[in-house]
Amino acid sequence: MRKLSYFIGTTIDGFIADPDGGYDFFFAHLTEDYAPTLFSAYPETIPTPGRTAAGIAEAPNKRFDTVLQGRGTYEHGLAVGLTSPYAHLRQIVFSRTLTPSPDPAVEVTAEDPLSVVRRLKQEDGLGIWLCGGADLAGQLLPEIDELIIKQYPVVAGSGTPLFRTGFEPRAFTLTDSRVFERGNVILTYARTAPSASTGTPTDAGSPDGPDAC
Ligand SMILES: NC(=O)c1ccc[n+]([C@@H]2O[C@H](COP(=O)([O-])OP(=O)(O)OC[C@H]3O[C@@H](n4cnc5c(N)ncnc54)[C@H](OP(=O)(O)O)[C@@H]3O)[C@@H](O)[C@H]2O)c1
Repeated sequence: MRKLSYFIGTTIDGFIADPDGGYDFFFAHLTEDYAPTLFSAYPETIPTPGRTAAGIAEAPNKRFDTVLQGRGTYEHGLAVGLTSPYAHLRQIVFSRTLTPSPDPAVEVTAEDPLSVVRRLKQEDGLGIWLCGGADLAGQLLPEIDELIIKQYPVVAGSGTPLFRTGFEPRAFTLTDSRVFERGNVILTYARTAPSASTGTPTDAGSPDGPDAC
């Protein structure tokens, strides 16, 4: 069964955008060793115009063949006339207000995101990329199998959080980490499997008592 991966850029304090929804402040941290890694390891996550500019327009999809966006995320491209930001992927946008779809290559749906993802997971193909944002990610948290966190070495203080949902701790296990020259890191986590006997995540609980965090 294919996986749902939340591949997303964040600050150290867990914000994916500034208070006005922009994320240009991340671009100051695109170091010489970092962008080529993104282009080679995750070429399908680069928007279509960026792929052309980077000379990777024809790069095959490596990990994902489908991208999911909330309308708040999709709107950033729309604002500059980019109606099909990931033309090399199947694009699904969740919205109750956006009708009809601004582009025939983009499926707009108001169906429950969990139902959509559960159905997509049953299909053949590469992985499913949850692009964002916080609202959609919060609803899809129960179905997220993998987090790929592009963490930039900056603290924002406020903005759009990684998830917007209630307090419900879920354990993830770090499976890979890559550190870049000026402190960018790409952290990959897999959802921690529940223990067969207790039903709770296998690494839950603090053996060091209430003061250790
Ligand atoms: N740093 C990064 O890598 C990165 C990546 C992606 C996004 N972002 C940022 O994230 C921000 C957007 O996040 P957000 O939380 O504000 O918005 P969002 O999750 O992208 O989109 C929220 C919208 O999606 C629609 N939606 C949500 N749940 C739905 C449901 N169950 N059924 C149908 N439609 C549903 C609604 O649209 P309607 O109101 O039309 O119904 C809702 O207003 C942007 O500012 C963007 O810059 C950052």
